[in-house]
Amino acid sequence: MEQNTKILPQQLVQLPDALIPWYQQNARSLPWRIDREPYHVWLSEIMLQQTRVEAVKPYYIRFLKRLPTLRALSLCDEETLMKLWEGLGYYSRARNLRRAAKQIMEAADGVFPSDYESLRRLPGVGEYTAGAIASICYDLPEPAVDGNVLRVIMRLCADESDIAAPETKKNVTAALREVYPEGAAASTLTEAIMELGENICIPNGMP
Ligand code: ADE
Repeated sequence: MEQNTKILPQQLVQLPDALIPWYQQNARSLPWRIDREPYHVWLSEIMLQQTRVEAVKPYYIRFLKRLPTLRALSLCDEETLMKLWEGLGYYSRARNLRRAAKQIMEAADGVFPSDYESLRRLPGVGEYTAGAIASICYDLPEPAVDGNVLRVIMRLCADESDIAAPETKKNVTAALREVYPEGAAASTLTEAIMELGENICIPNGMP
């Protein structure tokens, strides 16, 4: 029978200090890591949701060349948008990006939301993306839990609960939030856990 253990924050307290120095030595250099501009990080996270890093790179670069600002995205026509997204699939992601850009331009004078709750209110931004932007761009202690991150944490805790169960994700998010550092380390930790899950602690590899 499947266990349903609860991940406790004390199982994760050593994670930030263990993982951050490793990441600082081993981080890949990726186009969306050049700066922490929310528009850039948001675009990358949306593109990376259903697409692999290597495939995203050229799309990300081309998109920003053509639409370098939030304003440019908010004003772009449908045809341009679809051309830029062609091949990435899940076109609702692109439409939501433009809707969100319009919303930010109209309701907030172009100022990108800077807290978790306001980020969540943007079209297409779920818990994962809000946590990623809040921590990476604004140094807030918000974890970003996707499938990779879940696998990393469950393996680390040798917990065999059902990874697809919504309670598992809730539990892992809550435990991580308790141990999340403040400041620049929040940003680094989010990317470090992702990096571990994408390159080392991979689905069919050794935990
Ligand atoms: N996968 C999801 N978000 C990522 C990021 N910011 N860097 C690398 N891989 C990712």
